[in-house]
Amino acid sequence: MSFAQYMDIALYDESIGFYATTGRAGRRGDFLTSPEVGPLFGALLARRLDEEWFALGSPEVFVVVECGAGPGTLARSIAFAAPECASALRYVMVERSAEQRALHAVHLDGWMGDLDAGGLNTFMRVAGPGPRFSSSPIAPYGVTGVVLANELLDNLAFDIVRHDGSGNFERLDVHHAEDGLEFEVVPAEVPIALVSVLSQAAAGEWMPLHEHAVQWLAAAIDRVECGVVIVIDYGATTAEIAARSEMGWLRTFADQERGGHPLDAPGAWDITTDVAVDQLATVMEPTVLTTQREFLKRLGIDQLVEEGRRIWIEHASAPDVAALRARSRIGEAEALLEPSGLGDFVVLEWRK
Ligand SMILES: C[S@@+](CC[C@H](N)C(=O)[O-])C[C@H]1O[C@@H](n2cnc3c(N)ncnc32)[C@H](O)[C@@H]1O
Repeated sequence: MSFAQYMDIALYDESIGFYATTGRAGRRGDFLTSPEVGPLFGALLARRLDEEWFALGSPEVFVVVECGAGPGTLARSIAFAAPECASALRYVMVERSAEQRALHAVHLDGWMGDLDAGGLNTFMRVAGPGPRFSSSPIAPYGVTGVVLANELLDNLAFDIVRHDGSGNFERLDVHHAEDGLEFEVVPAEVPIALVSVLSQAAAGEWMPLHEHAVQWLAAAIDRVECGVVIVIDYGATTAEIAARSEMGWLRTFADQERGGHPLDAPGAWDITTDVAVDQLATVMEPTVLTTQREFLKRLGIDQLVEEGRRIWIEHASAPDVAALRARSRIGEAEALLEPSGLGDFVVLEWRK
């Protein structure tokens, strides 16, 4: 089978898949993402949602579709931040894993259920006081608002390919050997639309081929009638990724640590890659391409940290929960802006 087929089983198969069983983001989970650092990221994303709501003319119903929502932490932080768009907000947490969707309702007022396509259709159209939240394994169409994905695309099944400098491609497939699974090099066809981007990598270097992420993006753009698709992830160009020694872009994680070889113990750990932004750009050139650091600074992270520092100083002698939360913004901001860490993540936007 191809590596993409293997990865889909290892991560999502209902009986053994990492995400279908125990795997998830979070401090008590397997790895830390920006929403899991603390509520500050959600507070800033709430500001970004408000910008979009105002840009759309403050519609009565404003839909946000968060794809790959994990356990729903970002939605809870956004609800807690009480954005100005709250009364119009219809927030759909799209998550493939039923185990994780089952966590969405916890500590979330206004949760309207785990919905199918028909239920989502109603959810997205009924006006009335929000915010309202729902979960679903599928994303809706006809969105006036935002489609958002934080650290989803690095988890969509990818293939591993290289070229020989003369237009011939090879792929790493997975096959059974005597003592487990092994890679096997086979000749490969790659999608015509990606040939020129893939060919920019040095000949002979393995790189991820993001066919599923590219298809996801095309569908996400299609889902938006009016608004924006926002993708946040670790990323670089295909050539930069391919240049990393010993396929350093192909990583596994479990229990907050690096895992073993991706073909060992399928389902035991997350399998992930840096996302090739130029492969995504073959769908449509992004309207925004920036780093998470610049994105959060534009949204006022420094101001929120200063405010937090002031609140903490005022209440330090008898701190309450709000004062402790204000103080924690300082450490959260450091993590969210960290060079060579979350701060260097890429933020891409496609406007419709
Ligand atoms: C790395 S986690 C990120 C979770 C969350 N966005 C965060 O930043 O903490 C990726 C999540 O995407 C989910 N996922 C993968 N493919 C998906 C798909 N096609 N549709 C919806 N969710 C998906 C996985 O089950 C997993 O929970």
